[in-house]
Amino acid sequence: ISLKEYNTFGIDVYAKQFIAINSVKKLVEIINLNNDIFLLGGGSNMLLTSDIEKLVIHLNLKGIIVNDTEKDIVYVTAEAGENWNEFVLWCISQNYGGLENLSLIPGNVGTSPIQNIGAYGVEIKDTFYQLEALEIKTGKTKIFTKDECNFGYRNSIFKNELKGKYIIVNVTFKLTKNNHILNTSYGAISAIIQNKKTPTIKDVSDAVIAIRQSKLPNPKEIGNSGSFFKNPVISKKHFNILKENYPKIPHYIVNNNEIKIPAGWLIEQCGFKGKRFGDAGVHSKQALVLVNYGNATGKEILSLSKKIQQKVTEIFNIEIEIEVNVI
Ligand code: EPU
Repeated sequence: ISLKEYNTFGIDVYAKQFIAINSVKKLVEIINLNNDIFLLGGGSNMLLTSDIEKLVIHLNLKGIIVNDTEKDIVYVTAEAGENWNEFVLWCISQNYGGLENLSLIPGNVGTSPIQNIGAYGVEIKDTFYQLEALEIKTGKTKIFTKDECNFGYRNSIFKNELKGKYIIVNVTFKLTKNNHILNTSYGAISAIIQNKKTPTIKDVSDAVIAIRQSKLPNPKEIGNSGSFFKNPVISKKHFNILKENYPKIPHYIVNNNEIKIPAGWLIEQCGFKGKRFGDAGVHSKQALVLVNYGNATGKEILSLSKKIQQKVTEIFNIEIEIEVNVI
């Protein structure tokens, strides 16, 4: 079958064998028979560059369980196949706080810890409690605590040592019930929230949704995987040299010696913003996002990304790293 509908980039590659799974029991049965598998969750963080010869498993596990026994905190466990944004909005409707800044991120709950999804000052690790994952080799499940996940910027143990070894089946978040701590550190959020007397988690979520809609393409309309690259971290020394030529260079201080530069800005300076090469392109409102206008192949998107990387290296002497999984 074609996987075009199963990846947000809308890349038309084929799966030799495909199965949708809606119970952990069934999942164990399948991997006991065949563990040469390719896992597909929301398909929101991958670039498919060729057909998949393995058995493609579409994880469709659904359900939400609430453990509400403490005064100020609630533990919410969502199955891997729950759509991320629907889950966030459901939490807000229950007045559970902590995920509101992560509204409208494409993808499913089960893949959110792999790259420690983050936006507008918040990362999943801030509210993550634990996850349950199935070891592909043995078919046994294991609980991973927050520490065991080794979360970093767009990173976790599941992108490194344990890559391809486990299937995340559910994730538990520790959320607030009453005393919500709103994170309005991102300038555009505080600007929108400012005129609210007592801002709520719903107000923050609404602001995030408005900001995302104003600069990020909706995958249902234009294929994309969000940020295609990570924001690079450079030395202070390197930064000071760049600052001489680019006094307005946007940046965030990581520590005493390191500075993070928005890759979108670097790409825009290189002249790629809004450029189109066939059906592959660079989004016109956020240069960090590569887009598929319809029938681009994964290889075309990848070759555009290489062109961008080369130019950024040539002009800024910075290597920008791809954030999405290239398959
Ligand atoms: N910028 C430009 N040109 C562009 C894009 C950005 O000059 O085309 C500049 C902006 O003016 C701003 C700075 O770069 O000064 C930062 O831009 P923005 O706030 O849009 O955030 P970002 O650093 O480009 C990161 C995340 C996004 C997340 C936003 C908001 C990464 C790789 N990306 O982007 O995450 O939504 O911050 O927190 O860290 C994603 O991972 O898919 C994603 C969208």
